[in-house]
Amino acid sequence: MNLVINARDAMPQGGKVTIETANIELDETYQHAHPQALQGQYAMLAVTDTGCGMDEVTKSQIFEPFFTTKGPEKGTGLGLATVWGIVKQSGGHIEVYSEVGLGTTLKIYLPRSRDRAEGPRSHVGLSKPLHGAETILLVEDEEGVRELAAIVLQSYGYTLLVAHSGADALQSAERHKGPIHLLVSDVVMPNMSGRQLAERLAVVAT
Ligand SMILES: Nc1ncnc2c1ncn2[C@@H]1O[C@H](COP(=O)(O)OP(=O)(O)O)[C@@H](O)[C@H]1O
Ligand SMILES: [Mg+2]
Repeated sequence: MNLVINARDAMPQGGKVTIETANIELDETYQHAHPQALQGQYAMLAVTDTGCGMDEVTKSQIFEPFFTTKGPEKGTGLGLATVWGIVKQSGGHIEVYSEVGLGTTLKIYLPRSRDRAEGPRSHVGLSKPLHGAETILLVEDEEGVRELAAIVLQSYGYTLLVAHSGADALQSAERHKGPIHLLVSDVVMPNMSGRQLAERLAVVAT
């Protein structure tokens, strides 16, 4: 998703996005050219665009958290930092090829598993109705997302305390007499992040 959205953003006048997958063996020759990559069998996912491309300076910073060239309202600069985290956690490797004015390819290599894929587990079907009776504190600064989340959670029977900011959430929690079983919160919010809110609530709860 992140890679394809970046490809779209790089082609404001339109263009072509190509998504490829392949089983690839990274060999000794490849490792010589890319010392961070370990030799072995990988599943490769490549996303290519015919967009604006990147110069060397930009290219060297794209995985840094909060690095963006899209302006404060448009980019968070967290997309590729997140991709990097996920790929590294999985023992994978990323390569970036880019030419200014021509386009960009990001290739993700994930170590291939020798195990057979697990088939669908029969007991996880939706035969058991999903239903809860607990109380959830829902915190989201964006109205549309907040309303949708509230509708979905309420439709499963949860009792909701709804707040639009960290400060608002702390007040709701304070006013609420019964227990709060779960906090469902946005992370990036002005003034107080979801994480800071969770930490403050955890102190109150203990
Ligand atoms: N396909 C691409 N073509 C050109 N530049 C890109 C591409 N993908 C990423 N970039 C550059 O990397 C930066 C960081 O990307 P990302 O971490 O996804 O954050 P964001 O998309 O919020 O800016 C972008 O702002 C852009 O400068
Ligand atoms: Mg992005």
